[in-house]
Amino acid sequence: MGEERLAGRYRLLSEIARGGMATVWRSTDEVLNRTVAAKVLHEKYASDPTFRQRFHLEAVAAARLSHPNIVAIFDTGEEAGVPFIVMEYLPGGTLRDLLNSGDIDPIQAAGIGADVCSALQYAHDAGIIHRDVKPANILFSEGGLTKVADFGIAKAAFGPSDLTDTGAILGTVRYLSPEQVQGLDPDGRADLYSLGVVLYEAVTGKTPFTGETDLVMASARVSASPPSPRDVRPGVPRALDQAIMRAMAPKREQRFPDASAFAIALRAIAGDRDEGPPHNVSVARATQIGKIAPPLKTSFLRTEATWLVPTVVIIAVAAALVAGVVRFMDRGSPRAQEAVARLAISSAKTYDPPPGDGSENDDDSEKAIDGDRTTQWKTSSYRDEQMGGLKEGVGIWIDLGEPKELDKLKVVSIAGGWEGSLRYSDDAETWSVEGSSGVVSEVHEFEASSDHRYWMIWITKLVSTPGHGTGSRPFTVAISEMEAFGKAP
Ligand SMILES: Nc1ncnc2c1ncn2[C@@H]1O[C@H](COP(=O)(O)OP(=O)(O)OP(=O)(O)O)[C@@H](O)[C@H]1O
Ligand SMILES: [Mg+2]
Repeated sequence: MGEERLAGRYRLLSEIARGGMATVWRSTDEVLNRTVAAKVLHEKYASDPTFRQRFHLEAVAAARLSHPNIVAIFDTGEEAGVPFIVMEYLPGGTLRDLLNSGDIDPIQAAGIGADVCSALQYAHDAGIIHRDVKPANILFSEGGLTKVADFGIAKAAFGPSDLTDTGAILGTVRYLSPEQVQGLDPDGRADLYSLGVVLYEAVTGKTPFTGETDLVMASARVSASPPSPRDVRPGVPRALDQAIMRAMAPKREQRFPDASAFAIALRAIAGDRDEGPPHNVSVARATQIGKIAPPLKTSFLRTEATWLVPTVVIIAVAAALVAGVVRFMDRGSPRAQEAVARLAISSAKTYDPPPGDGSENDDDSEKAIDGDRTTQWKTSSYRDEQMGGLKEGVGIWIDLGEPKELDKLKVVSIAGGWEGSLRYSDDAETWSVEGSSGVVSEVHEFEASSDHRYWMIWITKLVSTPGHGTGSRPFTVAISEMEAFGKAP
């Protein structure tokens, strides 16, 4: 930057640290005469006006949050075209520092986790998902209070300008939820997963999935389950082991329902049943912990070292992630931020091409649009995933009533892993392809960007769906819901 002052009032004193996207400075607010932290975006990210606008909007959103476990945002602005955020100065270091020092025991980790949960529950209630919970974003005040930083900033951060710079993304991937890796819309439970990974690291000394052979595949977390913390370090309390594994369940339905539920489990372990606001809780806990369990002085692996994999591996991981990350980024793109609304679907019908009879379980087609995920429309059941070689595919299509600009068609199915693509039509007879076909996950969003009345999910490869096929014919696709989203009228 070369600037001494931001907005004529924040004097930069010394560089605290440099992150992937920004540099944080210890500064003086010369108007209020107090020490603050100023986070100044790296110049390369500041050149894109769309990015600047998004960064600003996210800062504004985060500034609405006022909670004892959330880093307070004081101000935001631009200096010489470079955006900055001014926030509460926290001299107590980060959880990253604490993990690196090895000076943390499982009970203390549970207490910090519970504090993070308080912050998350409050933000989730306010409609803000953190999206980037990781040790570097968990800070401590002088008195030892836990403070979570960078709420929602990730949404602004992973913009198109990052496409050529995977460094910023890779630093974070270790803590990302499977749904984020897959490019799906995260909800609050994505933050619970990330916190689970943080606590896993805090009690075992390493993040799950990183110790594996080959590529440290971010995608491994989608299906593979890591050894539980107790498998890695037998001294971890059983209840904490279970709480961490539950938070890290690959399917979000199997995690804690919300941050409060996770907090209750963690507080019970930390021996701190104080249900009130967490003011001074950490300080009180610190003395309590001293009595209950003296710190174990574990020698922790420096996880940065485990991440120092050869460049070639980094590139491979980046490539593996591109598909997911590009879509992840798109969540924060200008198009995604335009008002996107749920579009009404007037009916659903099915399509079975010749030599089929024209429709496929048509009586049940409305079950895919009835707003009830316990009811489904299913294809017929087949002996193999290729529909016995009888046809190229089958379809289910929706009628929007009139041509409308579709942004995405969200499809929820009983089992992921089938293949299909999106098609459109204006007369419900001739169909054209929108986008490419590919493997469909359990909750899948087919992206679209054109104006048509009829939209079809064209299914080309089935999946074995236990409980939904019939005997020797286990292959089917069962869709419980289709939801259309487009420009708000
Ligand atoms: N309010 C603050 N007070 C004191 N130090 C802070 C504050 N905010 C951030 N820091 C320090 O600055 C560092 C950089 O923060 P920054 O958010 O830019 O990057 P990061 O979170 O480490 O990683 P990434 O760039 O991937 O987000 C933090 O790791 C922390 O050490
Ligand atoms: Mg940060």
